[in-house]
Amino acid sequence: MTSTRPVVVVVGPPGSGKTTVAELLAARLGVAVRDTDQDVEAAEGESIQDIFVGRGEPVFRELEAAAVAEALSTHDGVLALGGGAVIDERTRALLADHTVAHLDVSLAGAAARVGMNTGRPLLMGNIRGQLKKLMDARRPLYQQVATFTVDTNELTPDQVADRILAEM
Ligand code: S3P
Repeated sequence: MTSTRPVVVVVGPPGSGKTTVAELLAARLGVAVRDTDQDVEAAEGESIQDIFVGRGEPVFRELEAAAVAEALSTHDGVLALGGGAVIDERTRALLADHTVAHLDVSLAGAAARVGMNTGRPLLMGNIRGQLKKLMDARRPLYQQVATFTVDTNELTPDQVADRILAEM
């Protein structure tokens, strides 16, 4: 039996460029791209923001962990995970078995990117302060699951995709 698995899984904090880089990678490789945030929204018929507000973060994390497990065993293209997916221990255990690209980014770089898109429930109010907290707490988790890390700070999304292709 052949198992289906993503060619590469992209992880990193909000504002690290996961979605853009995953799309570029998929186009270069001629494969499909999937994003677990979109999977959760499609499955629930609700935006992530509404799930956070109406049902709470723990419910979102359970839905996310299930979406990640499903995508890891069924998707054979590029898979981008939501920035907080690595919080879940079961998800980290599953990722040990995959090629995982970690997009590292400075606080300033991430803040500049998410500043353009403020729909993220965990970043309401003091965006920079919330981001710093998330990034400090999660950096070890991204590193734990990473097969390799790309420092995205001086690179365009195209150059990040090049680095990932070279590492795979
Ligand atoms: C989250 C990141 C978001 C989304 C949700 C929670 C987080 O994904 O899953 O808002 O905890 O960092 P992006 O990293 O794609 O913004």
